[in-house]
Amino acid sequence: MVGYKELGLVNTREMFAKAVDGGYAIPAFNFNNMEQLQAIIMAAVETKSPVILQVSKGARNYANQTLLRYMAEGAVGYAKELGCEHPEIVLHLDHGDSFELCKSCIDMGFSSVMIDGSALPYDENVAVTKKVVEYAHQHDVTVEGELGVLAGVEEEVSAAESHYTKPEEVIDFVTKTGCDSLAISIGTSHGAYKFTPEQCTVDPQTGRLVPPPLAFDVLEAVEKQLPGFPIVLHGSSSVPQEEVDTINQYGGCLKAAVGIPEDQLRKAAKSAVCKINIDSDSRLAMTAAIRKALAEKPAEFDPRKYLTPARDNMKKLYIHKIVNVLGSDNKLINK
Ligand code: G3H
Ligand code: 13P
Ligand code: ZN
Repeated sequence: MVGYKELGLVNTREMFAKAVDGGYAIPAFNFNNMEQLQAIIMAAVETKSPVILQVSKGARNYANQTLLRYMAEGAVGYAKELGCEHPEIVLHLDHGDSFELCKSCIDMGFSSVMIDGSALPYDENVAVTKKVVEYAHQHDVTVEGELGVLAGVEEEVSAAESHYTKPEEVIDFVTKTGCDSLAISIGTSHGAYKFTPEQCTVDPQTGRLVPPPLAFDVLEAVEKQLPGFPIVLHGSSSVPQEEVDTINQYGGCLKAAVGIPEDQLRKAAKSAVCKINIDSDSRLAMTAAIRKALAEKPAEFDPRKYLTPARDNMKKLYIHKIVNVLGSDNKLINK
């Protein structure tokens, strides 16, 4: 058993309370490799932002859970080396799907876990979330639960289609489970294709697809039921069209990729939404830069030569999210 505090990590309790009060959201960035992690830490240090490093099932399969946890430990030292005396870094399990997995992450030093029982019948979701909370809280690890189903990742679990969180269920769920934060479904979804062209309108000036607005009425109803309780938004990439264009210009083929407009995320960040999950945008930024670098220098075969612009582009993206969308810059408790 390794406690996360020994690794210099923190849980989400204090940072969420501060974010809800201050009307901003903490960035939760997924990482799968060293370049993503370096870019996230450089961005968080430069902007003096707290940050959540997320490890998904796909990341565990790709890079190995143990290796990722040691990388996160290294990230604390790296942030200090970059000049941040008291970094606030959370290591979080994204979409944990069983008690055993959550326990194994807690035992190896994760400071926060998500137990995603959103595709289960309500009572089973309550039962598994409660079990995870009981174990996690013995180790001062915070737990994110979920109610409502997003399209995408969770769809693979079982749900035929996404459905919004039912505000009338949230008090019962939070009371029975004791979870520390709640992910809700208000129209976001995972990946770079969040809406079909049929669900969108077309901007007459740019010809771009404009997605339907998020269900802010559902968010407001949840906030009314749970005043001040930390709310989480998954599937919150904006799918920057410049990155999609670069990918397509240099041999890629991304058609009609659509994300959540940033003004909607800004509005959400000012509410009780205090954690916003972003993965796809980082993938797009990395892929766009690599495609461009390889197309411009076809003789290049040193990975560092095309991963450097990829890392720079991700860092730029993370800084933009922190400063211009989530508002978590300059929010470290001990600056
Ligand atoms: O929640 C979804 C994340 O984007 C992680 O996806 O399992 O492909 O790493 P992944
Ligand atoms: P995106 O696919 O919109 O980046 O969402 C990521 C996410 O929710 C990770 O849990
Ligand atoms: Zn997610």
